Amino acid sequence: MDDSRETQEPVNPKKVIGTRRLKEAMAKPAKLRIFTVANQKGGVGKTTTTVNLAASLAMGGLRTLVIDLDPQGNASTALGVEHRENDGIYEVLMGTNPIEKVVQKVAGFPHLECISSNTALAQAEINLVSMVARELRLKEAIQELVAAKQSAGVGYDYIFIDCPPSLGLLTVNAFAAAQELLIPIQCEYYALEGLTQLLETYSVVKKRLNNDLALSTIILTMFDGRTRLANDVAASVRSHFPNELIDIPIPRAVRVSEAPSYGQTVMTYDPGSPGAIAYLQVAREIAERGKGFDSNVVSINYKKGESA
Ligand SMILES: Nc1ncnc2c1ncn2[C@@H]1O[C@H](COP(=O)(O)OP(=O)(O)O)[C@@H](O)[C@H]1O
Ligand SMILES: [Mg+2]
Repeated sequence: MDDSRETQEPVNPKKVIGTRRLKEAMAKPAKLRIFTVANQKGGVGKTTTTVNLAASLAMGGLRTLVIDLDPQGNASTALGVEHRENDGIYEVLMGTNPIEKVVQKVAGFPHLECISSNTALAQAEINLVSMVARELRLKEAIQELVAAKQSAGVGYDYIFIDCPPSLGLLTVNAFAAAQELLIPIQCEYYALEGLTQLLETYSVVKKRLNNDLALSTIILTMFDGRTRLANDVAASVRSHFPNELIDIPIPRAVRVSEAPSYGQTVMTYDPGSPGAIAYLQVAREIAERGKGFDSNVVSINYKKGESA
């Protein structure tokens, strides 16, 4: 990457030191927002987007939880939480450990927590099949945790679920548990291929399992503005999803891809780098939209009540 800001050494190459807070807090949502980050294609930036948005919102003072639902455990790695030895979301889905017991704090972020995945999670797709309410196990677990946190006075503002690259039972569980679907799209040649299938799964789940689910957010990842292709993909996404698209693309940037190998998000690894700045801007935009969305709902209901 020939961005001059990336030629210097990153700020925190080895480990997270101190805590991260922004001077200007981000808008708190009227109530908890649960996002599922999904795209059945691998390598499009689901995990990178999940951890960096979550870190940004936490830096903005919002209580945030990341649930790593990919057996590869990349989100757990990027957040520097233990995910080989201990129990994680697999044990919760199987009912062998309560969800409150597997929440871990993320170093450097007072408001960020993570539920890790482990390799056993790969068996979940098979083991879930024979279980009662197999599509709703994650939803029920999250509800339990949300209630416990609320009654302890430390309710979450945001929950992000990082999906595996498939449309299997794990992803269906994530769709059933969330209110908002966030789709990262990598600006490359086959970017929009497979989107039809993803949207089909979305509408089936919406109809059968979770009427509250809304495709609210699309983010362009690994964007290289110098290429015509990237701009074409962006234009095409914008024309199909004018309201959902966040018009701040995440640039392809070396620091973003280096950060996970140090067990960090780019928000601590190199906060001044172009990738970190872009994720922070996108997080702020998401927070602003969340604030607006909910107050709109309130005002519509209020008007309805008046005329009745
Ligand atoms: N903005 C970016 N710039 C450079 N590399 C990126 C960027 N976003 C993601 N990557 C890299 O691309 C690869 C795939 O990203 P990842 O978030 O793991 O995708 P997914 O979770 O969809 O499989 C990873 O190696 C990641 O570090
Ligand atoms: Mg991933």
